[in-house]
Parts: sequence; structure tokens; C-alpha cells
Amino acid sequence: PRSTRPEHSGDVTVAGVSLAETAGRFGTPVYVLDEEEVRERCRTYRTAFPEADVVYAAKAFLCRAMVHWAQEEGMGLDVCSAGELMLAVTTGFPPEKIVLHGNAKSPEDLSTAVRLGVGRIVVDSASEIARLAAIVPHGSRQQVMLRVVPGIAAGGHVKVRTGTEDQKFGLSITDGSAQHAVARVLGQPRLELVGLHCHIGSQITTVKPYVAAVRRMVGLMARIREQHGVELPQLNIGGGHGIAYRPGEESLDVPQLAARVRAELRDGCAKVKLPVPRLTIEPGRAVVGPAGICVYRVLAVKRTGSQTFVAVDGGMSDNPRPALYGVRYAPRLIGRHSTAEPRLVTVVGRHCEAGDILAEEVPLPEDVHPGDLLAVPVAGAYHLSMASGYNLVGRPPVVAVKDGTARTLVRRESLDDMNRRDVGL
Ligand code: LLP
Repeated sequence: PRSTRPEHSGDVTVAGVSLAETAGRFGTPVYVLDEEEVRERCRTYRTAFPEADVVYAAKAFLCRAMVHWAQEEGMGLDVCSAGELMLAVTTGFPPEKIVLHGNAKSPEDLSTAVRLGVGRIVVDSASEIARLAAIVPHGSRQQVMLRVVPGIAAGGHVKVRTGTEDQKFGLSITDGSAQHAVARVLGQPRLELVGLHCHIGSQITTVKPYVAAVRRMVGLMARIREQHGVELPQLNIGGGHGIAYRPGEESLDVPQLAARVRAELRDGCAKVKLPVPRLTIEPGRAVVGPAGICVYRVLAVKRTGSQTFVAVDGGMSDNPRPALYGVRYAPRLIGRHSTAEPRLVTVVGRHCEAGDILAEEVPLPEDVHPGDLLAVPVAGAYHLSMASGYNLVGRPPVVAVKDGTARTLVRRESLDDMNRRDVGL
């Protein structure tokens, strides 16, 4: 896929649209999404995994247009709440291509999923089995998968590692919970166990842990056949594919992932004489992350004894990732050309705490001043979907750019929007 990374100061265009003009027209902060880049990323997955269900993890970024693009590009959808599910289905996404996740699904999540006819529900705990079975109407069957902990440590930050026993997701193989759950689902006439699921973590940049996970899962599938005489037809290995946030960083090689996973699945299944299950993958970040750019306006520049702080008009309410995970971004000056010497600055947000730091040690021209525009590349995933209403600063809009034109997908959150739910004294 093309890079939407602004390479130079001066006027930067994405999909033929000037970022500076977009900032002027839509205001700042603004999230700009390159539609064709998103679509190309979907196609990269579909081409690399023609035999698999490629399911976009909506938690990375969701709006009606994104639902529509995923559908047009032949993807399924992974949702983890009734909210995400309703947005998708009311946009016209086929429910049978939706997978529902969640370690603690609410009664509303489960009943909405069953009522709308969601394709697969990924069961994450023993107690969920009976709860789910109880709401499936008489005479019908809900397809389910079981989320299993494969016992593999991988992922860019401890907060996004989900393949080991010391976290809240999935059923353990080691203590027998997974095997127990298999027996319980098989004992429920209204549930149809179609396969196993695992998601080992997020922002993973090497293929190896995926291969190891496939091996563990095939092993478990073989044991399930021994114990219960069933050959599960599907295997979902989750998402978690890492991307480069700054120049020079690694990203996961998707075609290589496909080749190695395919080989492991084929050989592993051949060894234990299991039919090769249909594969599902669930990429989120790698589909939208690199296709998004956030443009901020500088509001203040402060030089202290040792540091220069460049403060912008957004911050941890639209991008909580640096504060949460210590992620490092590479903001650039855009909209004007500067010949001033670069100096290392700290780019901070407008929120009322010292930890509201967007990026540290950023080389910006010495003459950076209020009114300047800063672009933060690779801002498409887990920014707006994790945005908050902190300090009652409205959430930025999402603008799609394509073929030289820009259009609003999600408008800016106004003061009115924010205060509407406050019903008074
Ligand atoms: N499937 C399941 C079951 C998941 O829990 C997730 C992400 C995905 C797929 C997609 O993972 P991806 O391909 O996007 O890495 N807020 C964190 C990331 C949390 C990921 C949660 N689960 C961040 O900003 O880095």
C-alpha cells in the first residue's frame, strides 16, 4: 500500500488533497482518512489469505463508511459490543459475516447478537455458555467458537498481551478450562461448536508467535477429536498485526504471515490426520492505522530551561495511546516550508495534566509558532475509537480523502452534543 506519511514540511497532500487546506476547511484537530489506502490494505489481506475469512476488527476504528468499505472489500466484521454490532447492522452489514467477542458480554450484547443473527459468537468464559444457550430460540442453533489461551507471550506492550495465562481473556488449556468448555458447548443442543479462537496480542511484528499459536491450537483440536470424536471445521487466530509508527520501525509482513500460517496448519493437521480447518484472521490496526493522519494546530510554544513544549489543540482525549502505552509518534510540521534549524521538542496536548504528552524528542524547526500545523501520521487505529470526553473537549471529525476531494464521515462533536445527556439539576 501507498504511504500516507508526510515526508517534508511544506504542503503535504494525501490522495490529492492538501492537508493544510483540509485543516482550514474542517478545523483542527481533524482526522484524515485515505479511503483508497484502507481499501488497498483490505485487498492486501484478501490476496494474501484467499482461503480465509478476513474479519476487520471494528474496535480499531468504526464509522458507517468504514463498515461499508469493509463490506465492499469482502471482509467480515469483528465486534465486541451491542453498540458496534448495531452500527454495523444498521449500516447494512450482513449479520452472518459478523463475529462477536468479549470477555464479559452483557445480556444486551448477547441478546442483540442472537436476535440479529450474528454469524459466530466467541465464548470467553464457562458461565457464558449457559447464558447464551438460554436465549437462543427453540429450534435454532447459534454457531460458537471458544476463545482459548494458547500460552504464548507476544505483543507490543504488556497491556495488549493476551496469549498468556496471566490476563483476563480466554479459557486456559493448562488448567483444563478449555477442554471443559468444549464438553459443555457440545452438550448444549442450541449451540453449535464450529471451532476455536485465539488472539495472542496486538502490535506483533514477527510471524513466529502466530506459527506457535497455530501449533498449539492444532494440538488442542486433535485432543478434542480424541475426547469427543468431533473434528472442528474452523480456526480463528485473531489479529494483532503490528505496524510502523515511525520511519524505520518494523511492521508485520502479511504475505509472509499467510505463507507460514498456511504451511504450519497444513503440516500440523497432516501430522495428526485432521482436515485443515477454515481459517479466520481479525486484523484491525493494520487495516486502518497507516491510512489515518491527525492534523493539529499549535496553540502555544513554551521554552523552559531545558525543554521546548509545543502545545496543540488536541491531545490525550483524541489520542490516549502515548499516555497508555508509551507509544512514540513522529509529528511533522506541515503547511509551510521552514528553513530554520530543527530542534528537539516535546509535543503536548491541551489537557489538564502533565502526562498529556503526544510525542517526545520531536525534531521541529526552531521557528515553530502558534498557528502552525502539525501532522501525526499513522493515526487511523485506536485513536478516535478510544477517544474520551476529558475536559469536555469535543471529539475531532473524520474526513475521508479520495481522488482530490475531501468529505466528512463523522462530524466534530459540539458542545451541544456533549451536554445533551446532562439532564440538569
Ligand atoms: N481480535 C480480537 C479478539 C482482539 O481483541 C483484537 C484487538 C483484534 C482482533 C485486533 O487486533 P489488532 O489487529 O488491531 O492489533 N488499544 C490498543 C490495542 C488493543 C487491541 C485489542 N484487541 C492499542 O491502541 O494499541
